[in-house]
Amino acid sequence: MKKYWTSTSPEQTLTLGRKIGQGLAGEAGLIYLTGDLGAGKTKLTQGIVEGLGIEAEVTSPTFALIHEYGPEGEVIHADLYRLESYEELQEIGFEEYLDEDHLILCEWPDLLEEEGLEPILRLDLRRVDGESEQARRIALTADDGALGERMAAIEI
Ligand SMILES: Nc1ncnc2c1ncn2[C@@H]1O[C@H](COP(=O)(O)OP(=O)(O)OP(=O)(O)O)[C@@H](O)[C@H]1O
Ligand SMILES: [Mg+2]
Repeated sequence: MKKYWTSTSPEQTLTLGRKIGQGLAGEAGLIYLTGDLGAGKTKLTQGIVEGLGIEAEVTSPTFALIHEYGPEGEVIHADLYRLESYEELQEIGFEEYLDEDHLILCEWPDLLEEEGLEPILRLDLRRVDGESEQARRIALTADDGALGERMAAIEI
C-alpha cells in the first residue's frame, strides 16, 4: 500500500514523525528513508524516535554511520551516504542489529537494498516544485497488513 502526506514545515514533519513513531511501538526491522540531501529524512527520524517514547537528541550519523537510541540501544539510526561497501558495514557489526530486537531507521539505504534486505516500511521525501521552499511530499510504502494499515490511518 501507498500513502502520501504533504508537510509544509519542519515542525509538521516532526509531528508526522511522532505519529509514525507511535505506530511503530514494538516493531522490529528496517525502515528505508530516501530523498535528496536536505529533504528532511533526519528531521522525520527525530520525530519517529520521540514518538517511540525515547528522549534523546537525534543528530545525523553521517560520519559515525550509526547511532543507537533507547535504554537497550533498540533503535538504530543509520546514514549510509558515505558508505562505500556493505562489507564496511559488516565490519562495524551492523548485522547484529538485523534481529527481532532492533528497529533500524536508515537514510541512504542503497547498499542495503542491493544486498536484498527488505524493509518493513519505506518513507520517501521530496521537495515539491512550484510550492514553498518548505513543502515536502512524503510517501509511505508498506506491505498490506496491520502495520501498513496503522500507518495509512495517520493524518497530519
Ligand atoms: N517540511 C519540511 N520538513 C522537513 N525539513 C524541512 C522542511 N522544510 C524545511 N526543512 C529544512 O530542511 C532541512 C532538512 O534537513 P535534514 O537533515 O532532515 O535532511 P536529510 O534528508 O536528513 O538530509 P541528508 O541526506 O543530508 O541527511 C532542515 O534544515 C529543515 O529545517
Ligand atoms: Mg539526514
